[in-house]
Parts: sequence; structure tokens; C-alpha cells
Amino acid sequence: MAGIDYTSRIPNNVNLASDSRLQRALEKWQPAFLEWWQQMGPEGWQASDVYLRTAISTDKGGWAHFDYVKMPDYRWGIFLNDAEQDRKIHFGDHAGQPAWQEVPGEYRNILRRVIVTQADTEPASVEQQRYLGATAPSLYDLRNLFQVNVEEGRHLWAMVYLLHGYFGRDGREEADELLQRRAGDEDKPRILDAFNQACPDWLTFFCFTTFTDRDGKYQLGALAESGFDPLARTCRFMLTEEAHHLFVGQTGIERVIRRSVELARQDPNGDARAQGGIDLATIQKYVNYWFSYSLDLFGSEVSSNAADFFASGLKGRWKEDKYEDHSALDATLAIAHVEDGRVVDKAIPLRNAMNEVLRGEYVKDCEGVVEKWNRTLEEDGSDFRITLPSTRFHRRQGLYADSCFDPSGAPISAEAFEARRGEWLPSAADREYVHSLMAPVHEPGKMANWIAAPRRGINNMPTDYEYVKRVD
Ligand SMILES: [Fe+2]
Ligand SMILES: [Fe+2]
Repeated sequence: MAGIDYTSRIPNNVNLASDSRLQRALEKWQPAFLEWWQQMGPEGWQASDVYLRTAISTDKGGWAHFDYVKMPDYRWGIFLNDAEQDRKIHFGDHAGQPAWQEVPGEYRNILRRVIVTQADTEPASVEQQRYLGATAPSLYDLRNLFQVNVEEGRHLWAMVYLLHGYFGRDGREEADELLQRRAGDEDKPRILDAFNQACPDWLTFFCFTTFTDRDGKYQLGALAESGFDPLARTCRFMLTEEAHHLFVGQTGIERVIRRSVELARQDPNGDARAQGGIDLATIQKYVNYWFSYSLDLFGSEVSSNAADFFASGLKGRWKEDKYEDHSALDATLAIAHVEDGRVVDKAIPLRNAMNEVLRGEYVKDCEGVVEKWNRTLEEDGSDFRITLPSTRFHRRQGLYADSCFDPSGAPISAEAFEARRGEWLPSAADREYVHSLMAPVHEPGKMANWIAAPRRGINNMPTDYEYVKRVD
């Protein structure tokens, strides 16, 4: 049974009551979390009633309960998928051995690092999105923002449970530090770069939830394969929550695209901007920016850390079961390198290429998303097509960070890149323009001019449902 105990202070399905030390430690962390939420969570709106979903069970389907909740009263808790009987480690050097129920001593440090790195992204994204409530294009969108925010908060709980429950004192210290770093802070930044980028407008938010939350999906997917069983079970449940975040991003961009085409058609010169919309060329630039930033999150193309994670059985491939060989010892992967200004493939031992393998799965998924956007463009009679730039374009980490490439992946000089930067990436003027459109719309069912209405509401409610009731 995966039922959740909501009677205790910290909702959970891990029988927290039976471990009073852990329960005490988490109850001590809880007020610090709430203080962080008040300080760094959504600004304003904390007293408002938001139509949110809450997990009631980790069983497949029907796990969510919808109701009006004030965000600070959201029941953040610890939910793990059920344990699989006699689960075995199924890749790497320990394949076939029983999955670990406790932290394997030899891998303690790298395991803690993996968990902390994932954990750090969760509060970071809440901080990045802190001010978006002031400019939501509709109550529907406002509600979705807050749903994403409270669930990122819950993901932090999921990771903190692992740190408190399995790592003792240094785990507790790491959990405290997760509430001390701040997205974009010069002195105490978040660990990964994409999580220090500003998220000042809703086009950015939709790109972030499409591309950066999707990185999360693949990281969680790889950790859901982990031989450390509590981590695997935690990540499996997080993945079910993550799906909504991706939906918010993908359908958000789709609605901006639809509206853009509509407004361009209304304009005598076919100019969406002249009608107060976001032109498709600008959307493309935001896509280029966030796709490339999110690619960095997978780490270096060639990485001995990645090899260690796989060998140790801590981090698998996306859907590891679909592979035949789970040792990855004899195979190689061709990875493009830059040599004397030319791009040449080199065969890299597969274990060292695991970041690239995961990135490849991610890119395929993103291609599917872009295909859907392009189907919308086609249906709406536009000739424009959104494209994903090459994985070499605009990278700041890994093999391509020190060279310049055009969006097709062809090497170019730094001067040539700078000369065309404004065609490929959002310029200050583009950002300013997008920013100038951001004005809140609070009437149920009404949308800001630059975005189309969603096709349907949340939980079968009408699109003009009052998803957020403001209480000042
Ligand atoms: Fe998350
Ligand atoms: Fe997410």
C-alpha cells in the first residue's frame, strides 16, 4: 500500500513515526524550510486560495487530490514509490547484487554529491520564479506557476529526506545549506549555472519548464535506476510530478505561438509585435538560449565522473532496461571533438560517454516537443518552423565551451559569432520588449493579449474557473 499518512506533522508514506530520531531531525528542518518559503517562495499571493493538487497516494493514476489551498499550508511531505521485492542492482560493476537499502560506504561521497546537486535545483527554480506571480497572463497560468513551485518545494523535501535519513550529520548540514544558497547570488550561488539565470518573464518561464525541467526529468530518470534503492523510489515518484511541469512549458509556448500567428495575420504587415504579440523569431531565440543552457546541465561529453556513477551502480541510463548490455564495458560512442577548428568524431569508451548518452535521450525528447509546436504552426497556416540548434551551439560547459558555432553546429570565429549573436539569442532589446508585455490579468478566463487561451482547464474544470482567489 502506498497510502500517505496526513495525520502527522510531516505527511509521509515511509512510516516516519517509527524512526523518532529522523522524525525529530526533519521536524527541526521544517520551520527553516517554511521560513525559506516565506522569504524566497512566490512573492505576494501567500494568503490566496490556490486550486492545487496534493498527492494522496503513490499508486499509478488517481494519486492527486485537488482543492483550494493557501501555499504556506501545502502539505509538503515524503513520498516514495513502493519497494520492489528483491530488487537487484541492474547495471555497472555490481549488477546482480541486491540493491542497497543503506548507503554503500565506498560510494558515500559521490552519492551524497549526486543527491545534493539534484536537491539544489529544486529550491533554486522556486527562487528564480519568485516574482512571476506579479505578471501572470491569466489565473490559469498563475495557478500552474504555483503548482510547479509547491512541487519543487516538495522535491526538496524528497531529497532532504534522503540526506537526513541516510547520511547522518553531514547530510543534515547539507540540508541546511540547501536553504542558504540563493539562485543568482554572487556569494552563495546555486550549484548549477542554469539555476542562477534570471527568470523575469513568462516566455522565459515557459522555456524553463520546457527545457530545464526536462533536464530534471532525465536526471531523475537516470537516478530512478539507481542501485541505492531509496533514491530510486524517491525519483520514481518525483517523475510523476515532473510531468505536469513539462506540460506547463510545452503548452505555454504552444499558446504563445498560436497567438503570435493570429496577431501577425491581423496586422497589415504581418508583424505580431505591432499587434502587441511575441513574434516567432523572438520565440526561436528564447528556445536557442534555454535549450543550450539546459544542455550544459548534463555535464561534460567525456567524463570520468559519469563513468564512476555508472560503474558504481548509482546512476543508470534512461530506461536502462531497454539496453541489452548493462556493463557498457566494450562499447564506444562517437562524440564530435574540435581539432584545429574542424569537427571530428572520436570513439569514446561508453562509460565515459554516459552524460552524452543521457543528453542524447533528452535531445530526442526535445525534438518531439518542437515537432508538436511545428504541427501547430502548420495547422495555423504559418510557414515558420521552430528548430533546435546544434548541441554545440552556445555552450558554456564541456567540449564545445571554448569554441564558437553557428546554430547548425558549424565552427565559426568568435567575431563571426558576436556579429550574429543578436540573430540567434535574445538581445537586450528583445528581452525588454518581452518584459514590456508582462502585465497581470486576474479576471477568470481572460488572457493577456500575447498568449492564446489553453485548450482545456485543470482537472476538467472550465478555463474560466477561478483558479486563484486573491485574499489580501
Ligand atoms: Fe523538481
Ligand atoms: Fe520540475
